[in-house]
Amino acid sequence: ASPLRPYALLLDAQSATTDIADLDWDSIGFGIHPTDYMYVMKCNKDGSFSKGELQRWGNIEMSPSAGVLNYGQGLFEGLKAYRKQDGNILLFRPEENAMRMKIGAERMCMPSPTMEQFVEAVKATVIANKRWIPPSGRGSLYIRPLLMGTGAVLGLAPAPEYTFLIYVSPVGNYFREGLAPINLIVEDKLHRATPGGTGGVKTIGNYAAVLWAQSAAKKKGYSDVLYLDCVHNKYLEEVSSSNIFVVKGNVISTPAIGGTILPGVTRKSIIDVARSRGFQVEERLVSVDELFDADEVFCTGTAVVVSPVGSITYQGKRVTYREGGVGVVSQQLYSVVTKLQMGLIEDTNNWTLE
Ligand code: COI
Repeated sequence: ASPLRPYALLLDAQSATTDIADLDWDSIGFGIHPTDYMYVMKCNKDGSFSKGELQRWGNIEMSPSAGVLNYGQGLFEGLKAYRKQDGNILLFRPEENAMRMKIGAERMCMPSPTMEQFVEAVKATVIANKRWIPPSGRGSLYIRPLLMGTGAVLGLAPAPEYTFLIYVSPVGNYFREGLAPINLIVEDKLHRATPGGTGGVKTIGNYAAVLWAQSAAKKKGYSDVLYLDCVHNKYLEEVSSSNIFVVKGNVISTPAIGGTILPGVTRKSIIDVARSRGFQVEERLVSVDELFDADEVFCTGTAVVVSPVGSITYQGKRVTYREGGVGVVSQQLYSVVTKLQMGLIEDTNNWTLE
């Protein structure tokens, strides 16, 4: 037997799909469960994409000098498919993710699929993996589109080839806490993004950059980190992977999008839903001091949907909201958005795609 045989066996084992029968829908959390198919589309020499195809789920091959591996030339997206009570499948605002990837690709010097290619590829991937969509009300199928510089480079330059890939995984709650409130710590030394940087696009490097503070916070028992702006070290930016909202009476405030904050699809949807429910929503600079005078705070994101914040600690001072319980506004907005996503209430905005 060849000495490489043990490695080959290891790879086989890693790429084998788990069986659906092994999954407990109520405790899947937010981990990776390989499904049946992934979608792969390569960029042509003229910078356009064509001939995408579904492939069996598996490891991918690329040059060790691929742009994405060496210089982080990559973007990702996140969206979800839900199973309705009648068995039909719903996608939530996929064209928003397509648009965000297009904008991000420009910033990262990459070609991107058209909106139509993106949405069609998402649909094809979801349908091919349909059996992995959790039963209605017990989770969703998380869809992860990637755009990567897969061509070889050595000198710093955009990669000569690109790959668009989509994989999916059934998911439950992002935070172990579920809808139970999370505990945040405000980071006042490290920053997530800088003006003129890439904080406003979904490039992979933004997420590597927050791992250090996040793991330090977790070791101290916090759920995640809330970042401040790097110029004044005073205004709220976002949590490692979600947007932040502060509630005071009938006013809901959230940091304005200005290049350092990710324009979340759930953020945008929550703003519209809150306004339609009579709240005054302000997108502006939100000072860290306002946390100490707020009635409620919550985070939003595709993965978390709406996550109520139970407490925030800043420079050793801790503020607790609604006695650490779920706030009424967070609960109300969570309920409306999840019902919309699952097709349980009328979608007057045409946000869902069936
Ligand atoms: C999402 O909410 O979909 C994200 O992109 C965050 C990710 C770190 C899970």
